[in-house]
Amino acid sequence: MDSIFTSFLLSITTTTTTVFYAIVVAFVSFVFINKRRRSPCKSSSPSKRILLGSMGWPFIGETLDFIACGYTDRPQSFMDKRCLLYGKVFKSHLFGSPTIVSTDAEVSKIILQSDANSFVPSYPKSLTELMGESSILRINGSLHRRIHGLIGSFFKSPYLKAQVTCNMRKLLLQSMDTWKEDRPIYIQDETKNIAFQVLAKALIGLDPGEEMEFLKIQFQKFIAGLMSLPIKLPGTQLHRSLEAKKKMVKLVLQIIQDKKINGGSLSQNTMDVADVLLNNKSEKLTDELISDNMIDLMIPGEDSVPLLITLAIKYLFDCPKALHQLKEENLELKRRKKDLGDPLCWDDYLSLPFTQNVITETLRLGNIIMGVIRKAMKDVEIKGYLIPKGWCVLTHFRSVHLDDNHHESPLQFNPWRWQDRDMSSGSNTCFTPFGGGLRLCPGHDLSRLEASIFLHHFVTQFRWVAEDDTIINFPTVRMKNRMPIWVKREN
Ligand code: HEM
Repeated sequence: MDSIFTSFLLSITTTTTTVFYAIVVAFVSFVFINKRRRSPCKSSSPSKRILLGSMGWPFIGETLDFIACGYTDRPQSFMDKRCLLYGKVFKSHLFGSPTIVSTDAEVSKIILQSDANSFVPSYPKSLTELMGESSILRINGSLHRRIHGLIGSFFKSPYLKAQVTCNMRKLLLQSMDTWKEDRPIYIQDETKNIAFQVLAKALIGLDPGEEMEFLKIQFQKFIAGLMSLPIKLPGTQLHRSLEAKKKMVKLVLQIIQDKKINGGSLSQNTMDVADVLLNNKSEKLTDELISDNMIDLMIPGEDSVPLLITLAIKYLFDCPKALHQLKEENLELKRRKKDLGDPLCWDDYLSLPFTQNVITETLRLGNIIMGVIRKAMKDVEIKGYLIPKGWCVLTHFRSVHLDDNHHESPLQFNPWRWQDRDMSSGSNTCFTPFGGGLRLCPGHDLSRLEASIFLHHFVTQFRWVAEDDTIINFPTVRMKNRMPIWVKREN
């Protein structure tokens, strides 16, 4: 998902050079326009709160300031400054659109829970071109609810969790077997490679091999276009990405055809998401819709889990007390299962409270998805604020996650803060790393499971030291040097 959001940011950033020249021409009109825009939103009723804020420069609004803050180690400073001046909900002009920014947990919750009559997701043109019209990320209304429900409940099912556990453990142990003590291991790369294969298996049942390698290569070409100018001419990045998508669709369509000929998998133990959509009786889904969606589902799934694991390892290295407790908890589980002679099942990995608290705290502090953007389909009033039709709303999760009114000492990695709190549902008002409402991330259970499996095998088998590395927050969250670590095998 962060790729999606990033592409939104970048596609606008790249247009800013052109826009710069327009600014010079528009400067004379600026004084007049800006003066008018700085005035509060007009409200049709006296009960509506006045939204304060600045619309910035013509065309680019406050985008450059937003980006500049994004590159610092406190990207939320853009919001913090404006919250002090205007309050927790303010207006701005970002990425070419008049935008209401919400750093208020309750306002954001209402926006997330609204249906498509009030708000729809808003993405940049290059991304919508690449996603296809019937992508789960683009569709709204009853078809969206149906597909989201089918995918969400399958991702939650014990069958898929068992399959993912088995697959992830196999790939992880294979990968760990190749780790050497005399050279660094790049955690970000290792986790990306494993998570992609786990995802491809869960979505279309693909096993490692030639087709997997082909899909990986095409997928990298495809996502490169998410951050491109929205021009489709031959030779452009967007064109190359669309070509890569065509090749992936062809491969997935072939897999779907084979499933149809061979009857697909009817056993829940070996089913994948494509089987679930193919076997769905209540709504006839075309092969094209299914194959498009299999690829579009890889967009939010591909990068986020590797980042979650990488950030957890970074925070743990910086907090030896938490690492020690995590290690003890996982070693205890390993000993217990060994004594019983049982293999570890998916629910064993998820059963360790401190490990789950480490993952929850990583999601809060890491803010892999800084927020989401919606577009108002009509004038909407929330807590007295008027959000005008056609405006975008940025619900900024990072501000809420780092607000000391909600989380004490918010910049500190403190997994103990989650003790005795059940966060398995994925979100509450002040903690929304997976969004909420109708578009709550269907992959949230899976993400926790994959992170738990990685952490278990990592801390019970290795001691390690990390090289100095820095978290970059813009345009996507990532480690500057891909998180190199030096390992020593213990068991
Ligand atoms: C740490 C990992 C992850 C994080 C932080 C994350 C975060 C999010 C967020 C915030 C949204 C809401 C977007 C919105 O409201 O517009 C979302 C949606 C989504 N996520 Fe995830 N995600 C993660 C992993 C995954 C995985 C592994 C998958 C598996 C394919 C996945 C699939 C999706 C899909 C399909 C949607 C769109 C749902 C819809 O629009 O109905 N995510 N994710």
